[in-house]
Amino acid sequence: MTRKVRVGIIGLGFMGTTHYGIHKSNPKAEITAIADVDAAKRKGDIRKVIGNIGGGDNSKPMDLTGIKTYADGMDLINDPNVDVVDICVPTFLHCQYAVAALKAGKHVFCEKPLARNVKEAEAIIAEAKKSDKFFTVGMCIRYWPEYSYTRELYKSGKLGKLRSATFTRLSPNIAGNAWKNWFMDGKLSGGALLDLHLHDADAVRFFFGRPQSVTSFGMNSRSSDGTMDHVITNYEFGNGTLVAAEGGWAAAKGVPFEMSFQIICEKATVVFNSSGFKIYYENGKVEEPKPANPALPTGWHEELDYFLGCVQKNKRPDKFITLDEMLDSMKIITAEQQSADKRKTVKIKY
Ligand SMILES: NC(=O)c1ccc[n+]([C@@H]2O[C@H](COP(=O)([O-])OP(=O)(O)OC[C@H]3O[C@@H](n4cnc5c(N)ncnc54)[C@H](O)[C@@H]3O)[C@@H](O)[C@H]2O)c1
Repeated sequence: MTRKVRVGIIGLGFMGTTHYGIHKSNPKAEITAIADVDAAKRKGDIRKVIGNIGGGDNSKPMDLTGIKTYADGMDLINDPNVDVVDICVPTFLHCQYAVAALKAGKHVFCEKPLARNVKEAEAIIAEAKKSDKFFTVGMCIRYWPEYSYTRELYKSGKLGKLRSATFTRLSPNIAGNAWKNWFMDGKLSGGALLDLHLHDADAVRFFFGRPQSVTSFGMNSRSSDGTMDHVITNYEFGNGTLVAAEGGWAAAKGVPFEMSFQIICEKATVVFNSSGFKIYYENGKVEEPKPANPALPTGWHEELDYFLGCVQKNKRPDKFITLDEMLDSMKIITAEQQSADKRKTVKIKY
């Protein structure tokens, strides 16, 4: 395909408007359609949209000139002027739109989490395996400059053997931020465990392969349905390393969002946090790499650009994540929920 890739976005909330801005600035993309159940958003009014990191100016209406608007995502899926269906609706709706779009012969980019549970996730992956079109999930941390750079460095052997790794993702309370407050309904979102901490569970999988078991401790204070608002997990690889992650959205509103990691290896320690990104070598040398591409500054830019590039080149998008790996992080999170519920170590069933 030499022309621009025609993108249709379903769901114009925090993630849909973020994708909209990114596609608009990408020469590979042309947004041809959007779908949202909210009539105001279909007119470009996004004043109600609130997000965590990188939120843009939502006070100005979006320019939807030349873009077809639909109330029903299924109509967007059947629009012949859409090559890629970009699914940005709440998590409990991912499965129905992803399966329908694949069945309709579209390429599909689906926001993370892949689905609300493993059964739905497996249904999507089974459909994606049958399709000659491409499917991927927005596990943006795999593409986030500091994470992907560190993972390459670790895999190259330059850091030496892993001793310990800790990943953190802490958000203020996001109650009231989203469409019908769906994040706070555990049945719809999976709570902070599935929605937020999944990024780090998947980062653990991305960096170090499949953990064998998990030991999690969780706390529920804000969401319904017994899902976790704050979780701390130890991932067991059976090789003596200490790998842990902490995530949650239980803090008071106004607390700054934080994502960070510290990876301690034999030859160097890599630190990424709000004060920067540095590599401290055991010999005293300190490096401060700047891995972000100014044209694609975040993992969201990178993942969307990569997927559209694959569609243009007709090349399967499996460099950062494979279809089977997409299921792994869902299975790890399920084991973490069971571990926190039962207060014991749980072996992960892959
Ligand atoms: N990758 C990331 O870093 C990241 C960050 C935030 C959210 N997300 C994910 O993105 C997805 C969307 O989250 P969000 O924060 O944008 O939520 P949101 O509530 O801000 O937006 C959801 C949008 O979907 C619309 N909608 C609801 N039902 C619909 C339907 N049936 N058809 C069409 N539109 C419908 C709503 O009107 C709203 O505009 C979730 O799965 C979430 O987990 C990912």
